[in-house]
Amino acid sequence: MIEIKNLKKSFDDKAVLKGVDVIFDDGKCNLIIGSSGSGKTVLMKCMVGLIKPTSGQVLYDGEDFVNMNDIEQKAIREKIGMLFQGGALFDSQTVEQNVMFPLDMFTGDKYSKKKERVKQVLERVQLKEDAYRKFPSEISGGMQKRVALARAIVLNPKYLFCDEPNSGLDPQTSMVIDKLIQEITQEYNITTIINTHDMNSVMEIGDHITYMHQGEKEWEGNNKEIILSENQKLNDFIFASEFLKDAKRMRTIQETGEIPKDMPAGVKDAIEEKLNVDLDGDGHIGNPSKNNPPSKE
Ligand SMILES: Nc1ncnc2c1ncn2[C@@H]1O[C@H](COP(=O)(O)OP(=O)(O)O)[C@@H](O)[C@H]1O
Ligand SMILES: [Mg+2]
Repeated sequence: MIEIKNLKKSFDDKAVLKGVDVIFDDGKCNLIIGSSGSGKTVLMKCMVGLIKPTSGQVLYDGEDFVNMNDIEQKAIREKIGMLFQGGALFDSQTVEQNVMFPLDMFTGDKYSKKKERVKQVLERVQLKEDAYRKFPSEISGGMQKRVALARAIVLNPKYLFCDEPNSGLDPQTSMVIDKLIQEITQEYNITTIINTHDMNSVMEIGDHITYMHQGEKEWEGNNKEIILSENQKLNDFIFASEFLKDAKRMRTIQETGEIPKDMPAGVKDAIEEKLNVDLDGDGHIGNPSKNNPPSKE
C-alpha cells in the first residue's frame, strides 16, 4: 500500500500539486486520470523520488519515502518497477538484453540464472521466443510494450508505476496490455499505479480511480461509481463526446432504473412511446406536440 498525505509541489511560484491525499492499495490497478497538465506525471515522479516534493508525505507500507536517507530510499527503489511513457527501450539492445538490464544492475546473479528469469517474464507477457533476439525497431508497438512490461517486473516489484502505458497503441492492443497489467497486479499482489487518459482503461481496469484537476484530487472511486457520478468536472472530462454521454445515460438507466435528467427529449419520448408510459410526468406519452393522449397516471 502507498499512502500520499498532503503532497505539494511547486516549481518556482507555480503550484502544480496543491495538497493531494490518496491511498493506493495492493493487488489493484490504481488509475490516475485527468487532462494534460493536471499533474499526473509530477505526482508519479514525486512518489518514486525523481522529483522532491515541496512538502507532504509518501508512505510505502507506512514508511515515509520523502524523509528517508539515501540508503533507505534505495531499498524502496529496488522494489519499484516502472513502465515509462513511450516504452523507453534501449534501441541498440535486443529484447532479451533490454529485459536483462535491471538484473545486471541490481543482482549479482550468474548469467544462466538471469537468462532463465528473463525467459520467465517474457513468457509471462506472452512474447514468443523468436522475438528474443530482435531489436525494438523490429517488433510492433504492442510487442515493445510487452518487453517494457517484462523489464518492469523482472525484479519482482512490490510497486509498479506505469505512465501512459497505452500511448501510441490502437484501442485493441491497449486493452490487451491493460489486461496483462491487471493480471500481473493481481497475481503478484502488486501496488500498481497507472497514469492514463484512456477511457477504455478507466472502464475496463479501473479498480480505483483518482481524478486530478489542476493539481488537486477532484474525485475518486471505481469504474462502477464513475458511471453514476454527478461531479460535473469529472463528467465533462470522461464523457466528453455525445457517444460517451449516451453510453453513461444507458448504463444509468440499467443500474438505477431512473431516466437521467439530461436525457435528450427525443430519446425520452421514444422510450415513452415504446413502453407506453409517461416517464417524465408531462402528461403525455412521447412527444407532446404529436397530440398523444394524456397518460392515465
Ligand atoms: N520540471 C518542471 N518544471 C516546471 N514545471 C513543470 C515541470 N514538470 C512539470 N511541470 C508543469 O507541471 C504541470 C503538470 O505537469 P504533468 O504532471 O506533466 O501533467 P500531466 O502528466 O497530468 O499531463 C504542467 O503545467 C507542467 O508544465
Ligand atoms: Mg503525464
